[in-house]
Amino acid sequence: MKKFENILCEFPYRGHPHIALVSLNRPKVLNALSTALMQDVIDCFFMLEDNTDVRVIILTGNDKAFAAGADIAEMVEATPIHQIQENRFRSWKQIPLITKPIIAAVNGFALGGGCELAMSCDLIIASDTAKFGQPEIKIGTIPGAGGTQRLTRALGKSKAMYHILTGDMLDAHDAEKAGLVAKVVPTESLMNETFECAKLIANKAPVAIKLAKEAVNAAFESPLKEGLEFERRNFYLTFASQDQKEGMRAFLEKREPDYKGN
Ligand code: CAA
Repeated sequence: MKKFENILCEFPYRGHPHIALVSLNRPKVLNALSTALMQDVIDCFFMLEDNTDVRVIILTGNDKAFAAGADIAEMVEATPIHQIQENRFRSWKQIPLITKPIIAAVNGFALGGGCELAMSCDLIIASDTAKFGQPEIKIGTIPGAGGTQRLTRALGKSKAMYHILTGDMLDAHDAEKAGLVAKVVPTESLMNETFECAKLIANKAPVAIKLAKEAVNAAFESPLKEGLEFERRNFYLTFASQDQKEGMRAFLEKREPDYKGN
């Protein structure tokens, strides 16, 4: 497994043959998302995407922070031209190209780019002490990696406007009530619960999982009529896979399915 400077990558995670763990690893600065760290994240995601054994990726931080945002020290003197030249969000834009499900396991702060990174994942499981927010307004700027768009889709206009204009954080329970996170769990069981969720997904037919992920994401990018058509085509496409036959036969034969990923 390749070593990265700013993240840790573990596969197989806890011995599971289909689950990988990626941990952000700049603890001294609360996992501030430098350009180099984000490049590591995307390089690692693509490495796991290309590994046919990997079916689910978990992304996490540490006890204090998932990530406290983009690296302010790296940005303080930036000019717009500099950011355009270095294409600041290049690695972020590639996250949607990952076809395997990515679960964000969030402990502590998920602020600014940290909240945006969690929202770029497919689902979020949060510890009961997690805090989400887009505090960029407090430092004279606004979210730049999707916060105004994804938080608004998750919370609705009024709540998103409140949090983005005040910089106030949301606690884990409010985030769950609003639908931003799938599940809130006690801090000490965050990784166990996330692993259980990853196992539930990893045990399903991988092609159907990818097609389902793609169809859910289409709900955010297309009018309902087009989204329904997209879903129907992906539904038909699952019938080209051996795993669909295996899944339905196993149900009728009252046994567990054995999915091969084809
Ligand atoms: N960038 C760089 N360094 C950061 C950082 C960040 N986003 N967040 C925290 N750090 C550093 C601090 O400077 C501090 O470093 P030193 O020990 O060298 O002083 C260290 O991490 C620990 O942080 P604090 O001492 O501040 O810890 P705290 O517990 O008192 O406060 C916090 C925690 C409330 C999260 C606070 O650190 C904070 O407000 N951080 C900044 C949050 C923020 O504004 N994020 C948005 C960034 S901009 C962005 O993300 C734009 C975008 O959309 C892409």
